[in-house]
Amino acid sequence: MLLPRALIALLAATGALALPQVSKKGRYLFTPDGNRFYVKGVSYQQQGTVSTDGAPGAFPEPTDFIDPLADAAGCARDIPYISSLKANAIRVYSVNSSMDHTACMNAFSTAGIYVILDLALPVTGSINRASPSWTTTLLDVYTDTIDAFVQYDNLLAVNIGNEVVNSDATTESAPFIKAAARDIKAYLASKGSGALVGYASTDGSDTTDDWRDPLANYLACGSEATSLDLYGLNNYRWCGAAGSFEGSWASTVAAFSNYPIPAYFSEYGCVADLPRLWNEVPVLYGSQMVGEWSGGLAFSYFPAVGGYGLVNISSDNTTVITGSDWALLQSELSNVTFINSPTSSSAQTTSPVACPGQNSSFLASTTLPPTPDAAKCACFRESAFSCSYTGSPTDTGIQGDLFNYVCNALGAEGANCSIIAANGTTGTYGILSDCDPVTQLSWAFSYYYELSNRNPQGCDFSGNATANDSVSTSGANSAAQACLASVPSGGVFTPTASSGSPSATGSGGSGSSPSQSGSKSAAQAWRVEVGALGAMAGAALAALVGAVVTLL
Ligand SMILES: *[C@@H]1O[C@H](CO)[C@@H](O)[C@H](O)[C@H]1NC(C)=O
Ligand SMILES: *[C@@H]1O[C@H](CO)[C@@H](O)[C@H](O)[C@H]1NC(C)=O
Ligand SMILES: *[C@@H]1O[C@H](CO)[C@@H](O)[C@H](O)[C@H]1NC(C)=O
Ligand SMILES: *[C@@H]1O[C@H](CO)[C@@H](O)[C@H](O)[C@H]1NC(C)=O
Ligand SMILES: *[C@@H]1O[C@H](CO)[C@@H](O)[C@H](O)[C@H]1NC(C)=O
Ligand SMILES: *[C@@H]1O[C@H](CO)[C@@H](O)[C@H](O)[C@H]1NC(C)=O
Ligand SMILES: *[C@@H]1O[C@H](CO)[C@@H](O)[C@H](O)[C@H]1NC(C)=O
Ligand SMILES: *[C@@H]1O[C@H](CO)[C@@H](O)[C@H](O)[C@H]1NC(C)=O
Ligand SMILES: *[C@@H]1O[C@H](CO)[C@@H](O)[C@H](O)[C@H]1NC(C)=O
Repeated sequence: MLLPRALIALLAATGALALPQVSKKGRYLFTPDGNRFYVKGVSYQQQGTVSTDGAPGAFPEPTDFIDPLADAAGCARDIPYISSLKANAIRVYSVNSSMDHTACMNAFSTAGIYVILDLALPVTGSINRASPSWTTTLLDVYTDTIDAFVQYDNLLAVNIGNEVVNSDATTESAPFIKAAARDIKAYLASKGSGALVGYASTDGSDTTDDWRDPLANYLACGSEATSLDLYGLNNYRWCGAAGSFEGSWASTVAAFSNYPIPAYFSEYGCVADLPRLWNEVPVLYGSQMVGEWSGGLAFSYFPAVGGYGLVNISSDNTTVITGSDWALLQSELSNVTFINSPTSSSAQTTSPVACPGQNSSFLASTTLPPTPDAAKCACFRESAFSCSYTGSPTDTGIQGDLFNYVCNALGAEGANCSIIAANGTTGTYGILSDCDPVTQLSWAFSYYYELSNRNPQGCDFSGNATANDSVSTSGANSAAQACLASVPSGGVFTPTASSGSPSATGSGGSGSSPSQSGSKSAAQAWRVEVGALGAMAGAALAALVGAVVTLL
């Protein structure tokens, strides 16, 4: 049935003419009319405060953020500029799920612009490459953001991480990224959302990094339930006049020629040669690239560390001041004609890619961590602990100190913290490794308290702990078994909405920079210490822990 013209005009004017869902088939993206969809746009996030976290040579990463989609006036100011690029997408790196995004999301939708939304927040709201885990705390951050955005027709995709893996050593993070993709896919499906699940990878060098392609394959291999929908590559290889398909992108195209899922450049725009000519744009959307690649996002609309900004904003926030490379990007992007091939009906299905094996440059196990189980963690807190952490639920600094202290103290007793530790290389995940820091500290405190034979000094922890002697050792034991008995078989299930787990991330944040997440968190720094404790012999386990260990 055709809609009357007046109704169409009304729907368009109110933004109610929804953008169609983009979906994937094989290695391509399509709109429902069967035409190929190419990502074409800019990253859109103000620069947050950045820190290198004291690590020599570390790339600066944001410690806070400004939510660009909560700023209705800012969106109204910027959309005419982004529209003038004939863009169809922006990428946003961090949002505050408790703020109202309706005005911006509707305004972008009306302008025909989709949003690719990263779910991570700076610092503690992202998978920490230095000691990775996939916990109820992170799952809550991710599902809160999905809950806040799932209603918008222009949510194209969500990213479950950005540049978490950036070296051989940090490939141990990959099982946690893949578990997050699995659980977020299931969660989106349970909400009836067709938004795609993506990840944005940093690029490596062809000569020194052999983890990029194994990581890409790892995230796309295996069952549909655990593989990504959309692979993003932050690619800065084409630099100005010296750039060429052969010199800049041919090796990347070759490496991904049999890749089974859609791929795009989640960032591009090298600044080695200013002003940027954007002469890579016709090639990005041209016949040499589109066999696998589906467009990309120029980095960055707003000013960003490193000189990547395309515009400045006046100090009163009312005016956009475009830079010298804006007009060049505008002329290149507006001149793009999408190659509509193949169409959906002629697109071939792709062959699955093998999951890469482990070697010294790719450490990830194919055994994934379980779905973070807030009900199990709450059950332990409520019934199985004789000594609970009662300090700040949000102070990750204090929590980090206490983890170090109690895990070292346990080590001195011949015990260890493996029940709350996760290891993506061995594929071993302690039964409380998916819990929030309050649950994990309470477990470690209770373990220590039991080992001390409930010496009152054994449940103090500088005033951060409270004993509950009405929890008997045998009562804790049976409570722990009951908590574990209700864990879904295999530990993988569809998460439900935010569990309200007792640790907040407290992170703020904005910030886009060519490298943006996977930041180190004080709360998790202790896990590095746990590795050292692992070598000690286990002995003299308290009954509580004995029961738990026997069970799994
Ligand atoms: C301009 O916007 C930024 C956030 O993007 C905000 O921090 C700043 O306070 C605003 N300045 C004025 C004068 O409104
Ligand atoms: C933004 O302002 C800074 C500082 O004046 C300047 O260095 C930079 O080139 C400007 N960027 C643009 C895109 O105009
Ligand atoms: C626009 O695209 C056409 C076809 O790709 C090309 O021949 C032409 O040079 C482009 N014009 C500009 C200004 O880039
Ligand atoms: C590790 O395996 C990948 C293939 O998965 C290979 O490309 C890489 O060269 C290997 N690295 C080493 C050090 O063997
Ligand atoms: C102490 O443990 C008992 C038994 O699990 C529980 O009912 C009670 O609420 C706990 N008391 C406190 C103060 O947590
Ligand atoms: C908790 O422990 C920290 C670090 O050990 C200490 O500085 C703080 O005072 C303690 N908090 C309370 C409430 O005692
Ligand atoms: C989100 O915004 C609320 C209200 O302004 C603020 O209290 C909270 O700290 C913010 N959360 C994050 C993660 O920035
Ligand atoms: C995981 O186990 C491997 C192999 O035993 C070890 O080298 C690595 O340090 C462990 N990782 C953590 C985070 O403990
Ligand atoms: C930690 O303690 C448990 C229980 O005694 C033991 O089975 C395990 O081998 C220990 N882990 C390490 C890494 O020592």
